[in-house]
Amino acid sequence: MSSPVVTPDPNEVYEDPLDLMGEIEELKKEKDASILAHFYVDGDIQDIADFTGDSLKLARDAIKVKSSTIVFSGVHFMGESAKIMSPQKRVLIPDMLAGCSLAESCPADQLAAFQEQLRADGRTFDTVAYINTSAAVKSLCDWIVTSGNARDIIERVPADREILFVPDQHLGRYLMEVSGRKMILWPGSCMVHEIFSIQDLIRAKRNTPGSVVIAHPECPQNILELTDFIGGTEKMRQYVMSIKDPTTFLVATESAMIHAFEKSAPQHTFVPVPGIMTSTGETCACNRCPHMARNTLQKVRDCLKNESPEIEWKDYFQKARDVLDRSLLQ
Ligand code: 13P
Repeated sequence: MSSPVVTPDPNEVYEDPLDLMGEIEELKKEKDASILAHFYVDGDIQDIADFTGDSLKLARDAIKVKSSTIVFSGVHFMGESAKIMSPQKRVLIPDMLAGCSLAESCPADQLAAFQEQLRADGRTFDTVAYINTSAAVKSLCDWIVTSGNARDIIERVPADREILFVPDQHLGRYLMEVSGRKMILWPGSCMVHEIFSIQDLIRAKRNTPGSVVIAHPECPQNILELTDFIGGTEKMRQYVMSIKDPTTFLVATESAMIHAFEKSAPQHTFVPVPGIMTSTGETCACNRCPHMARNTLQKVRDCLKNESPEIEWKDYFQKARDVLDRSLLQ
């Protein structure tokens, strides 16, 4: 696994964020563009976005957008999904290298070979993919889930069929627990959620009496066992908003999420659960996704200005579109 530590881009010269925001506003008008931003990108980008949200909401927002251009500030599979959902629009992403460890863990050729092997063994199954996959993988699947709709979709898979769940083994295990369905799990995981350590969480709980732990279901089982509320980013946001009394939450997900929590429920205190802690008490920046962190105000401005990089339509997107449509829109 590559190192998750975020290093600043040495080629990026400092520019005043307020100037950048002003330039982006102008360029949005000039280029007839809207910005969609996932909760995991920097707060300043969320603040200038036209739509913010979790993977499910943003995939649906991509259809609602009125402008002819979408700038998707998130990671590559999200921009790809927006293009698939809205093929007539131009979809730009600030950095083509903003990938996803989960998507990388499940290459389409390996999935196709595994499906072939299962079929040869006489197994009848539906393949359910987490949206954190490439379009090529989506085109090989029967259903797409996000953390926001996964339980509902699992219930739609006929009971007489097995489920092959890709690529997140932790989300898959959690879904097996809550749905009671057995699944064949692909051994992928998210580099950010995978790295939360149980020792850090226990220490954080001890240091913060009365705190409430909230965690994304991409976390491993040992973290979820100590969690008070498990949900995707939007479900967690709704949960903290539903609690009126000021509360301290220990947050086991990507740390940029705290920006959306603080805006939505300012009465609370949000403490990020650190990643691996050294014996001297220092933490790495492991709860920051290095791919999401590739999104900067400068790159948002540049991609609007240059109208590049762009997600181009590919033939196999049509098959992926059919699967996304029936999973997210029906
Ligand atoms: P949600 O957007 O479904 O909460 O999932 C977060 C995520 O994994 C983004 O990569």
